[in-house]
Amino acid sequence: MSLEQRKAELARRSAAAEAGGGEHRVEAQRRQGKLSARERIALLLDEGSFEETDRLVEHRASDFGLDAQRIPGDGLVTGHGRIEGRLVFVFAQDFTVLGGSLSEANAGKICKIMDTALRVGAPLIGLNDSGGARIQEGVQSLAGYAEIFWRNTMASGVIPQISAIMGPCAGGAVYSPAITDFIFMVQHTSYMFVTGPDVIKTVTHEEVTKEELGGALTHNQTSGVAHFLTRDDADCLAAIRELLSFLPANNLDAPPLRPTADPAARADAALDTLVPEASNQPYDMRQVIHAIADDRNFLEVQERYAPNLIVGFARLAGQPVGIIANQPAHLAGVLDIAASTKGARFVRFCDAFHIPLITFEDVPGFLPGTQQEFGGIIRHGAKLLYAFAEATVPKITVVTRKAYGGAYCVMASKHLRTDVNYAWPTAELAVMGPEGAVNIVYRRELDQAKDAAEKEALRRRRTEEFRDRVANPFAALERGYLDAVIAPRETRPRLINALAMLRDKRAANPAKKHGNIPL
Ligand code: HXC
Repeated sequence: MSLEQRKAELARRSAAAEAGGGEHRVEAQRRQGKLSARERIALLLDEGSFEETDRLVEHRASDFGLDAQRIPGDGLVTGHGRIEGRLVFVFAQDFTVLGGSLSEANAGKICKIMDTALRVGAPLIGLNDSGGARIQEGVQSLAGYAEIFWRNTMASGVIPQISAIMGPCAGGAVYSPAITDFIFMVQHTSYMFVTGPDVIKTVTHEEVTKEELGGALTHNQTSGVAHFLTRDDADCLAAIRELLSFLPANNLDAPPLRPTADPAARADAALDTLVPEASNQPYDMRQVIHAIADDRNFLEVQERYAPNLIVGFARLAGQPVGIIANQPAHLAGVLDIAASTKGARFVRFCDAFHIPLITFEDVPGFLPGTQQEFGGIIRHGAKLLYAFAEATVPKITVVTRKAYGGAYCVMASKHLRTDVNYAWPTAELAVMGPEGAVNIVYRRELDQAKDAAEKEALRRRRTEEFRDRVANPFAALERGYLDAVIAPRETRPRLINALAMLRDKRAANPAKKHGNIPL
């Protein structure tokens, strides 16, 4: 073959890789509102920064007519590029080639960029759109999946791993995204499930659509499997870029600073009156978060799941922070199973990647009930406790109102080695709320009241006494469990000062193979 012929052959194969599964299949994707694998990568990365690898890899299978279906690239686009100038690795499955199914060859392509991403310490982003294991290849394809799962596990806590579900993701294929740090889903075009509607109908006789079973809303709201719900492909890719702006490239790097014109000393008088007089009245904790964050910017994670606990990323004087906050506007901010696991996972992510933790606390306790106890609130609540306790990043807590019972201990209390613990003047720290406490401590006295009116008057008096004596920040201040009471309006400058003080914090847990978080 002459050099000219060789060049022509390269061009032919390259064009075939570009064409994917052919115009009619590309058109079918478009009709569903989906972009092609290459269009997705182009939107995700800084313009012109994509460098493709293994564009001409082909599968080596020949059974079931596969030898007649060899397309360069084998239904997968892989490579690296830049997001805001920072290196990332990316793969995008191309549904137009054999349904984006995973072959031995294209699993090899994914593993290759995973290995490089880990070696050079850069985030990995997977754009998933696939019918799963390539059925014709059998166990070789399964082996390819397992190789990816192993690498996902090794890379966990070393580089950020992000999965976007932009089409089908079914069967065992879901377990690669499940091990990654964040899952984005696109409304109406993506779904994830271990077994699909047909199998479910056969086995359990339940009738359910793909969308109900594993659509974007289901996983963002009901199962908690996904972290972000996006409108369409472009929205999804823009959201991934935004998330990455808060994250370091790897676990040895610091999160990127973003200069801001928002003054560090900015006070917000509205916070002084945000907490209602009556302690059973709700308010929106998001207002606190927006008020303290640089440019009022907050990227909420798992917004629709367990809304009684808010988690997400913000910046303080340019420094990315992870925020965990009870939400009194939903279920009074109580901790339940879903909130505990959501919080624990987020805390551990931040700790793995040097992102300081800011906790806003207004929690009446753990949610009572057989559903919670039978569901294992003991084990799940312990996850949040464990996560806060083992975290060694700078930790700052602000008690805005209630800090009751076990939930007081769990929510980054001083005793879990939180560095700075502030309270607003409205703070109440106690074993339980005044009403509950009086019913227990004064039960005998209440039972001895001669009639209902006397009992009620006595209850009211004792409740007021209890509130005055116990449901306040004084006992905690006297013992140093709280470092200071701060004016709510000054929360932003105080947090920024505390973060600056903690900038060079050094802390390490005892050496061990790994802990045993109560899974
Ligand atoms: C090979 C596949 C494929 C697969 C789809 N195709 N999935 N080829 N292996 N897994 C091919 C189809 O034959 C078709 O080829 C083209 O991709 C598009 O598929 P359609 O069915 O026409 O598309 P659509 O109607 O949109 O349906 C999409 C789908 C469906 C719901 C994903 O294709 C499907 O059910 N596929 C099989 C899913 C599955 O059971 N996978 C195995 C899961 S188990 P042509 O040539 O006609 O265009 C698994 C195990 C992983 O993945 C284990 C890890 C441990």
